[in-house]
Amino acid sequence: MKTAIYPGTFDPVTNGHLDIIKRASGLFDEIIVAVASDSQKETLFSIKERVAMLEEATKDIEGVTVKGFKGLTVEFARQYGVNAVIRGLRVSGDFEFELQLALMNKKLAPDIETIFLMTKSDYSYISSSAIRWAASLEGKISEFVPPHVEKALLEKYHQS
Ligand code: COA
Repeated sequence: MKTAIYPGTFDPVTNGHLDIIKRASGLFDEIIVAVASDSQKETLFSIKERVAMLEEATKDIEGVTVKGFKGLTVEFARQYGVNAVIRGLRVSGDFEFELQLALMNKKLAPDIETIFLMTKSDYSYISSSAIRWAASLEGKISEFVPPHVEKALLEKYHQS
């Protein structure tokens, strides 16, 4: 049984993340989407909300489970006996941060490998923060996130 974790903040999950999850699920028997509460980002959605949105978004993808975690990603991977970490790369700007993260993780846990998947070109320019920004200004975001995420964003920003 080959399992990988896909860690992130997912504030909120986007169609770009979902594309990575679907493609990774074709390479591994099981993907554990690991939702970080310690990602050094101030989040709009609570960990509970981010996990729930991902569960709904991935419910029809076989072999995918979603779990929240605290602490180091590599410790979470070890806890589940996993030695592969998936990350998506969008544009060259992602590389510096991702390389640093992968090397830090390698130092902390030499037995764990980071595997990069290139983001589908349709989603290479989107990010969770750009989507939050557009939603806050009532921009159209339906092509970037699943409908339940769009609804949750609109409720956060425009609940009367
Ligand atoms: N499609 C669309 N957007 C994508 C994407 C894709 N395929 N891949 C990444 N992104 C975007 C996200 O939308 C997000 O945008 P934002 O910066 O505007 O929020 C950004 O790229 C990355 O966010 P996300 O994918 O949610 O992951 P992250 O970079 O926030 O995750 C952790 C970081 C959780 C992996 C990292 O902080 C971590 O491992 N934390 C735990 C503690 C730890 O182990 N630290 C490292 C060792 S000290």
